[in-house]
Amino acid sequence: MRLEKFVSASTGLSRKEAGRAIRAEEVFIDGVMCKKAATAVTEKDSVSWLGQPLQIIGLRYLMLHKPEGTVSSTEDPVHPSVFMLLDEPKPDAIHCVGRLDVDTTGLLLLTDDGKWSHRITSPKKNCAKTYLATLADPLTGDDFERVRSEFANGVMLRGEETPTLAAQLEAIDANQFRLTLHEGRYHQVKRMFAAVGNKVVALHRESVGSLVLDSDLAPGEYRHLTPDEVASFD
Ligand code: URA
Repeated sequence: MRLEKFVSASTGLSRKEAGRAIRAEEVFIDGVMCKKAATAVTEKDSVSWLGQPLQIIGLRYLMLHKPEGTVSSTEDPVHPSVFMLLDEPKPDAIHCVGRLDVDTTGLLLLTDDGKWSHRITSPKKNCAKTYLATLADPLTGDDFERVRSEFANGVMLRGEETPTLAAQLEAIDANQFRLTLHEGRYHQVKRMFAAVGNKVVALHRESVGSLVLDSDLAPGEYRHLTPDEVASFD
């Protein structure tokens, strides 16, 4: 690979900026300054820029504990973006795997691997997502059983043509419930509870597929997934 490409692929600099850094005598190969952008380098060469050793940035797979009040898009006129929480080279290459509402907390996956995120979000895959929902009104006894069975059979949401897929509802206490969905429609959890006359006042995503939010991650913190965690969506 050309030195210029290597520097670009390992720093987030554009090719042009990488070329400039090389000509500015900022880049060294095996301790020797190299001013030629076309120099061939391999993984075995140790390349450094401004004294920092460089490594090609591979695909990234991140688990973020999304805090309340952040948006899953890159820009918002009012709220900070989750991307401000990342300390990654080439942040522009990273996208959220599905979205969470601004007031929803919990597990948000991010990656720069489009195929991987498609495997998780594709409607054909029915990937399970589990949410903890706190409701405005208590839901107990026969009322709970009725809602549990409605959710298991599918609910017709306003403006939609097909009922929701079977979802599993579990009571934690009178106002808190664990809901597992196998699809991802717009504001789905809130709309499902609204369809049965209740209101979600707090929502937290606990898991996606077999991946559970790491309890070591405080809101706003993230970590890279392990290779096994990445492969769990294959
Ligand atoms: N369902 C919702 O209503 N909101 C979310 O953020 C995620 C699922």
